[in-house]
Amino acid sequence: MKIVKGNIIFTSAYEKFEVIENGYIVIENNKVKGTYKNLPKEYAELEIIDYENKLIIPGMNDLHCHAPQYRNVGIAMDKELLPWLNDYTFPEEAKYEDTQYAKEVYSRFIKELYKNGTTRAVAFATIHKESTKILMDLFKESGLGAYVGKVNMDRNSHEDLFEKTMTSINDTIEIIEEYKDKYSLVKPIITPRFVPTCSDELLERLGEIAEKYNLPVQSHLSENLGEINWVKELHPNTSSYAGVYDKYNLFGSTKTLMAHCVHLTEEEINLMKNRGVYVVHCPTSNANLGSGIMPIRKLLNSGVKIGFGTDVSGGHSFSIFKTMVYAIQLSKLLWSNDKDNDFLSLSEAFYIATKGGGSFFGKVGSFEEGYDFDALVIDDSDLCFEDYTLLERLEKVIYLGDDRNICCRYVNGRLI
Ligand code: GUN
Ligand code: FE
Repeated sequence: MKIVKGNIIFTSAYEKFEVIENGYIVIENNKVKGTYKNLPKEYAELEIIDYENKLIIPGMNDLHCHAPQYRNVGIAMDKELLPWLNDYTFPEEAKYEDTQYAKEVYSRFIKELYKNGTTRAVAFATIHKESTKILMDLFKESGLGAYVGKVNMDRNSHEDLFEKTMTSINDTIEIIEEYKDKYSLVKPIITPRFVPTCSDELLERLGEIAEKYNLPVQSHLSENLGEINWVKELHPNTSSYAGVYDKYNLFGSTKTLMAHCVHLTEEEINLMKNRGVYVVHCPTSNANLGSGIMPIRKLLNSGVKIGFGTDVSGGHSFSIFKTMVYAIQLSKLLWSNDKDNDFLSLSEAFYIATKGGGSFFGKVGSFEEGYDFDALVIDDSDLCFEDYTLLERLEKVIYLGDDRNICCRYVNGRLI
């Protein structure tokens, strides 16, 4: 059993923050037992880790990032999605055939997630099975929680970044067999890159594998208009882009997330809601690649589950704090043209970053009873003024803070 003390802030619902000034979190078997303003007598004898005037908040969940795009972060921002993939992204990912290269760059990628306060991530690797295993091993060493996907793509790609259908399937199964029970916090996830780079046979087999092993699925959906038209040409008889994944049991048959979802039709939104498929909102990437502004209010109102993704290197920031800010800013741009379409509030953004996204991993992202204790301890002494409220302090950290303000990180009850 463990007790931490400090200024506790979390969101159990979209609408409001729970704030406990100088409060206590009791942790038992790595899970939150309770949060208290006054410590119950039964715990009085236990040692307390006192974080004094610091803030204690849930860890950040990044539901969509590309580990092999680490070197391209902050460069190559002058094209939209399809030429960006062809000219910058695919050639970089092809280098991960080389496991030494993978080891070096993946270590730096994970360090960057850690620095920025991400405690759990859902990551794309590349098509290469050995480097994908290295990424999983490195996540395990770091103490962070992660789902890691070997990417599947057997058509419409570069000759250096191409796999035969059967190799793609066999390599995927090999990784699953080796890693499904190997680590408790790092797990495989089925990862068709997106519809244009996957043959029908590949999609069909991946759907079967996801169901057979009860594994989650991640992919991209409706990011860019050129991409959407391409999917229409490739699948003229399927009613929507989402419908293609659905046809192959890759849309909520098991836990599923879809990155971007900028240009969904009403039919697709309903399907996501009915199948419990997560939207991963990647605002920095959508701005950088000129993909569009995801209508977050509409999606929230429709009841779809939402998390945030950095989508590095489409996104240039590893920080889920900064992702919150971009999401709020983009929602305000939409609101400025349509005042019925309310912008995202700070508590809504915080909920999406913590409990909303965290739910993909289980009971993660809140300090309610039974939740895994994932937390950040924030020293904001360089940012705050004495008369700030705790929520003003948090807002300032979200807008202006960086990795230097994060002094401790817990994942599943363990200080990492
Ligand atoms: N769609 C297919 N692959 C990718 C990728 O690597 N990044 C983004 N942003 N979109 C994609
Ligand atoms: Fe992506």
